[in-house]
Amino acid sequence: MSAERAHEIDIHTTAGKIADLERRLGEAAHAGSARAVDKQHAKGKMTARERVAAFLDEGSFVEFDELARHRATAFGLDRERPYGDGVVTGYGTVDGRPVAVFAQDFTVFGGSLGEVFGEKIVKVMDHALKTGCPVIGINDSGGARIQEGVVSLGLYAEIFKRNVHSSGVIPQISLIMGPCAGGAVYSPALTDFVLMVREKSHMFITGPDVIKTVTGEEVTFEELGGAHTHNSRSGVAHYEASDEQDCLDFARALLSFLPSNNMDDPPVFEAEAVLETTDEDLVLDTLIPDSANQPYDMHTVLEHVLDDGEFLEIHAGFAPNILVGFGRVEGRSVGVVANQPMSFAGTLDIAASEKAARFVRTCDAFNIPVLTFVDVPGFLPGTDQEWNGIIRRGAKLLYAYAEATVPLVTVITRKAYGGAYDVMGSKHLGADINLAWPTAQIAVMGAQGAVNILYRRELAAADDPDTARARFVSEYEDTLANPYLAAERGYVDAVIRPSDTRVRIVRALRALRNKRAVLPPKKHGNIPL
Ligand code: HXC
Repeated sequence: MSAERAHEIDIHTTAGKIADLERRLGEAAHAGSARAVDKQHAKGKMTARERVAAFLDEGSFVEFDELARHRATAFGLDRERPYGDGVVTGYGTVDGRPVAVFAQDFTVFGGSLGEVFGEKIVKVMDHALKTGCPVIGINDSGGARIQEGVVSLGLYAEIFKRNVHSSGVIPQISLIMGPCAGGAVYSPALTDFVLMVREKSHMFITGPDVIKTVTGEEVTFEELGGAHTHNSRSGVAHYEASDEQDCLDFARALLSFLPSNNMDDPPVFEAEAVLETTDEDLVLDTLIPDSANQPYDMHTVLEHVLDDGEFLEIHAGFAPNILVGFGRVEGRSVGVVANQPMSFAGTLDIAASEKAARFVRTCDAFNIPVLTFVDVPGFLPGTDQEWNGIIRRGAKLLYAYAEATVPLVTVITRKAYGGAYDVMGSKHLGADINLAWPTAQIAVMGAQGAVNILYRRELAAADDPDTARARFVSEYEDTLANPYLAAERGYVDAVIRPSDTRVRIVRALRALRNKRAVLPPKKHGNIPL
């Protein structure tokens, strides 16, 4: 805003006061310099205001603290006091439902977080918690505002504390749309979902230069902390967006499955299910290959159970041996956890256990029933797994299922062996309705492993070990590798035709709609971390 215009306004008249307000708001709306905005656009990035507008329902945004300005004076900061202080905060709606939002503005001080910037985020987070609405944070920042020193660090910790206090109360979604470095990464890390944009966003504790100095390793920004890295290697991010609009759209889609807060239910869409077996349902009767070693795509099962075959997969690039995501049954949100035989035969490893545990807890916190589909040959063997803590880290999934009080429905499609049988939403951990297909193999271990142990001496002494082994394997499979021992004991409530799965799940979820379960009172549990 030009200083000349300010001089033209007579602030001693009402008209002048209104003109002065408009001048200030105009300045706030263009707080970043034209050069900085051009630079932002040249990188293929939107500005903070453009992102907020593209995210919220049209015309719904109401801004907080548009006229807030920093009070810092050191390093010449007193000469530059842009309105808004580099972050756009406020509330609006998504699909007509209230949400709170903050968007860091890289065009002002590189989106760096100073005292006022931090206070604005704190205010909007408090608003979200108080009113029970989701908070969406759009991150694009050079981190702590260097000129403001420890004050900036203090505000980060205020934000972290609010992230923690809001956890499990209101959904928190972080969109990383630019740099997010150092301790600043921990606010997104504490939220429910972290979405990143390919080649536009980076997250790391220490950047490539520091790493090179300290360890000598050479690594690019993208390789170290880009969207693909965090969606595939580290598991820090839950979605790898192709561009900013895709990222914003995914956040909106996520919100459609979530309640506004933990005292609320997710939105319900009218969609009464057909309760007869359809031609589509019959596809599942031929899905499982005759050979137990042959994989099939678990997505096919999900597509035949969820409304319109729609599955919003989350964390797809990380631990692909387990699938997690949201869908709807009869228009109501469900969370899905499913072993994926197409990837490492669907074994449970550390990454898969943590991915699924986190997801089950997210669903439980937000009143979303969990559907579990089981085809798991067991835990992944290896020193790597053992030494990296599969014992304590795998325990998280058990913990998550056992503490969940939302409706739990489990379908065993094929293998459910050993500890993994227990872990994957078994009746014993608290699942409400457990179903098995006739192709289910529920036992301590697979036939080959079992025969090696049970018949070691016989195999060593046999004239023709191969024939003897084949006989023992078939005997084991006929006796133990089926769903009927579990059915005899009520560990599965029914053995069903695969084509009945959709209808059975509809009926189960209807029956469980009013489920109420409580755990013993405690301050909080002590989940193995
Ligand atoms: C103050 C900052 C800033 C910061 C950037 N700027 N980061 N100002 N504090 N942390 C300013 C720049 O001076 C510049 O101002 C404008 O923002 C844009 O930055 P550029 O460097 O021109 O942009 P770009 O080339 O895209 O590089 C982006 C960047 C780089 C990689 C993020 O700016 C950078 O390395 N910044 C410092 C990052 C950092 O070390 N932050 C502290 C991390 S520790 P002008 O006036 O020239 O336009 C931390 C701890 C958090 O954050 C602790 C929480 C517990």
